[in-house]
Amino acid sequence: MLTLPKNKFQPFFTDLMGKAVHEKHVFAGFNVFSLDDAYEIVRAAEKIGAPVMLMVNKLAVGLYPIEVWADTLNMLVRHASVPVCAHLDHTTDINVIERACKAGFDSVMFDGSQLPLEENIAQTRRVVELAHGLGVAVEAEIGAVGYSDGAGGKDYKSAMTDPKEAGRFARETHVDWLAVSVGNVHRMETQDAVIDFDLLSQIEKETDVPLVLHGSTGIKDADMKKLLPTHVCKVNIGTALRMAFGNTLRAEFEKNPKAFDRTELFAKPLQMVREEAEKKMVMLGCKGLIG
Ligand code: G3H
Ligand code: ZN
Repeated sequence: MLTLPKNKFQPFFTDLMGKAVHEKHVFAGFNVFSLDDAYEIVRAAEKIGAPVMLMVNKLAVGLYPIEVWADTLNMLVRHASVPVCAHLDHTTDINVIERACKAGFDSVMFDGSQLPLEENIAQTRRVVELAHGLGVAVEAEIGAVGYSDGAGGKDYKSAMTDPKEAGRFARETHVDWLAVSVGNVHRMETQDAVIDFDLLSQIEKETDVPLVLHGSTGIKDADMKKLLPTHVCKVNIGTALRMAFGNTLRAEFEKNPKAFDRTELFAKPLQMVREEAEKKMVMLGCKGLIG
């Protein structure tokens, strides 16, 4: 059981990630698109006593200004009985990162995965200096996690992580958390990803930095459980919850073709989001970490 300091979750979350390298659990980061789904995820985390990360991606930033997101997530952080980390996901624009850091995000991901290595290192270092100066943790990516649906754009190049490059990247950038590409693929609708555990352990020999796997909807349950003793400390999950919400909402419309009330239509889809989030966190060994 972890000791929970009062109302000081961010440094605590960074500590949690560090400790998870040597402990048998992996935290879940979930993409959120509204207060509705963010709240359900926090409810799931509170029910099982798990720290959790709420992640705002580019699509979500297109819905509401980053400052509105910061206040919304921090409101949930304040009311939660478990550590909740407000995280800015996949961002290439350093100005957006700066705004997020100043607005109160706990951590940010700079995504330089499409840049040449030297440029990725140089820009990530800039982000680390900026963010650490404001007390914000930084995740960055080495290698490039692909997209199953082309959402990365037509010129997006995926690449498995080179272990030596990962070691150098971690040493030279001082990132807090490192996203790696070991067979994980974004936006898969089925759990078919082939995770290269041998490559993962080669990366672990090159750096002690907590590792992150993106595209974790596509990872098989058995492989998720195999991640527990590794240095992977967070898995990012988006599509699984989007499917839980959207597929249930479609069924609700089919059942009640004349329904128009939002609270009525959203009740079941949001319940499914909560249950899916709970299932993933239990699978990742997070249940009961916070008493
Ligand atoms: O950064 C977000 C995640 O990598 C989400 O991936 O939608 O494939 O679960 P997913
Ligand atoms: Zn991702």
